[in-house]
Amino acid sequence: AIEKIAKKRKEKVYMVGGIVRDIILGIPNKDIDIVVEGEGIAFAWDLKNELNGEKIVVHEKFKTAVVIVDKDLKIDVATSRVEYYEYPTSLPSVDYGSIREDMYRRDFTINSLALEVDYQKFGELVDFFNGYRDIQNREIRILHNFSFVEDPTRIIRAFRFASRYDFKIEEETERFLKDAVENGFLKKISWPRVKNEFKIILGDKNPEKALNFLEKYDVLKNIHHNIKLTEKMKKHLEELNSLGEMFSQLKLKKWIMAFLILMEDLKSDEIELIFNKFSFSQDFRKKYEFGIKKRSEALSKLKKADKNSEIYDTLNEISFEVLMLIYLEGKKSSREKIRKFIFDLSKIKPLVTGADLISVGYKPSPEFRKILEDALYRQLDYKGITKEQLMSNINK
Ligand code: CTP
Repeated sequence: AIEKIAKKRKEKVYMVGGIVRDIILGIPNKDIDIVVEGEGIAFAWDLKNELNGEKIVVHEKFKTAVVIVDKDLKIDVATSRVEYYEYPTSLPSVDYGSIREDMYRRDFTINSLALEVDYQKFGELVDFFNGYRDIQNREIRILHNFSFVEDPTRIIRAFRFASRYDFKIEEETERFLKDAVENGFLKKISWPRVKNEFKIILGDKNPEKALNFLEKYDVLKNIHHNIKLTEKMKKHLEELNSLGEMFSQLKLKKWIMAFLILMEDLKSDEIELIFNKFSFSQDFRKKYEFGIKKRSEALSKLKKADKNSEIYDTLNEISFEVLMLIYLEGKKSSREKIRKFIFDLSKIKPLVTGADLISVGYKPSPEFRKILEDALYRQLDYKGITKEQLMSNINK
C-alpha cells in the first residue's frame, strides 16, 4: 500500500528507525515509522483510506500523523525535515529537508537507517552513517559528539539497546556518555521522562543486565545516592525472567517488580521520596507499605501453614507486588504455597454469601464478616463440601 500511494503521489518514502534495525536483526517490531519526502500528512490520509484504517491523528505543526490501522498495527508518518531553533528555548520549526538530515538527528547509528519503500528503489537500504556495519559489529555509536548533551535520555537509551541486543557501547561513545553523566546531564531529564525510560528498559527481557549498566555508569546514584545493586537483587531480577505466567495471572508489570527489587534496601522515607518522584498513586503506595510491614510475619507464618485456610489467611491481604517479593524471598515449600494461593485459592468463590446469612435471619453486624470468613475457610479446607453443609454449620 505504501509503495502504491508513493507512486501515485510521486514521493520518496522510507521506513526508518527501530523497525529497520529490527528487520536487520530479525526481531519482530509492531511500530512502523515512515518518513515521506513531501507531504507527510496528505500521504497519511491516503494511507488511512487505502488500508481502511480505524483512525488518524494529525499534528499539523510538526507535519506528522499516526495512522491507526487496527489494534495491532500503528503507522507513524513524518515529513522529512530540517529542524532549526529560532530561539534556544522555542519548539523546533519544521521545514522540508532531506532524509539525510532526518537521520542525522537520531540517537545512534543503529537507529539511523532508512529503507526505501517507494516505487523507484523499493527495498533499498539507505545508510549514511554506517548503521548496518554497527549492527553487524553489535555496537552502539552516537552520530555526533553532542548527542548526549542534546538529549540526555539517550544515556539511558544506550543501555536499553546494549542490554536488549547484547551490544557493546563503542569506546568513543562511552567516553562522551561518561562525560555527560559526570557533568550532571542526567539531572536535566524530567522525572516523567526518567520514569518512561525506566519503564521500557526494566520491562525488557533482561532487567538485571540493564540495571547492571545503570549501576556501573552511575545512573542509579542519580536517582538516589543510596541505591545499591546487590548480589541478592541481581539473583531476584534474573528470576523475574522466568515468572511470566505469574505476571500475567496477577496482572503485574515487570518493570515495577524490577524497580521494587531495586528499592529493597532503602529506608521507608527514601522509598517514599522516590515513589513521589515517579508519581506512583496513593493507592499503590499504601498497599505496598502495608504489605511490606506484614512481610516478615507472613513469611514465617507461611512456613508453618499446612491448611489451605492458613495459606489464604496469611496472604489474602497482601498486595500482589509484595506477594511476588515474598515469593522471591521464600524457599521451595513457601513458593509452592504462594503459587497455590495465586492460581487456585484466591480464585475460589465463596459458596456462602451475605445474602444467604440474611435469608436465614441474620442482621448485618460486626460478627457477619467472621461468619462468612469461617464458612470460606471451611470451604477451602474441605474439598467437595456443599453449600447446604456449610449453612447447616451456621447456627442461628
Ligand atoms: N530517537 C532519538 N532520540 C531519542 C528518542 C528517539 O534519536 N531520545 C529516534 C531513534 O532514531 C529511534 C526513533 O527515534 O529509532 C524512535 O524512537 P523509539 O520508538 O523510542 O525507539 P525505537 O528505536 O523504536 O525503540 P523501541 O524498539 O524500544 O521502541
